[in-house]
Amino acid sequence: MSKITVSTLNKMKAEQQKITALTAYDASFAKLFYDNGVDVVLVGDSLGMVLQGGDDTLAVTNTDIAYHTRCVRAGSRDLFVIADMPFMTYSSPLQSCENAAQLMRAGANMVKLEGGEWLYDSITALTQQGIPVCGHLGLTPQSVHVFGGFKIQGRIEEQAKKMITDAQALEKAGAQMIVLECIPAELAKRITDAVDIPTIGIGAGNQTDGQILVMHDLVGISAGYIPKFSKNFLLETGNMPDAVKKYCNDVKSGTFPSVEHEFK
Ligand code: KIV
Repeated sequence: MSKITVSTLNKMKAEQQKITALTAYDASFAKLFYDNGVDVVLVGDSLGMVLQGGDDTLAVTNTDIAYHTRCVRAGSRDLFVIADMPFMTYSSPLQSCENAAQLMRAGANMVKLEGGEWLYDSITALTQQGIPVCGHLGLTPQSVHVFGGFKIQGRIEEQAKKMITDAQALEKAGAQMIVLECIPAELAKRITDAVDIPTIGIGAGNQTDGQILVMHDLVGISAGYIPKFSKNFLLETGNMPDAVKKYCNDVKSGTFPSVEHEFK
């Protein structure tokens, strides 16, 4: 059993202690992250871009995520590990359960699915079978072709309201955490206040219950540029353990992300 559990994460939200998260794909970084203060790691399907070099995340398979989850778990028994469910692996409750089972057996503590209310039945089925679920709203990269690119979501009030009801539906279905990606900071706060489960932001301002970054962004090597919502912590600190420590300290103290990293 990992040292950090869903109960720890709920307690952190209740006590207003920020949750720190990073993506990880292998054992060495998983250990480094745990040793330097990271609470949660996500084996993200971002690996399709940062490891496999794709333009998006759509080519990633469940077997890819299971392999990297096994690597991450081997690096630390204590970390709370979330495994991403790839594109088209959770189209029905049965398919969701079969694929999530593979990820849980590989060492995940929770699985993450992109989408809103339409996932209700799948999330209910997963939680009934003992599989904890993290939702993901906002800029959900598996829908990049529907959005017409990697664009900020929820800027129109109608979309914002829909995102709040989606978050409430995810919670009602049994989700125990929600990632909010690239939405206005003010909307992220409204969602965080509207649910009792922890919210983890990326490009969503600093009023969520925690923060996550793709680890390559933290060290400034994602596709040769730093997204507006990220920061190169390696540049400031000069070595990897200190970069991770600084990220965690800045998230915990609320100094990262600052206004320059958020969307209006
Ligand atoms: O795949 C991933 O790394 C993610 C994060 C951006 C939250 O979903």
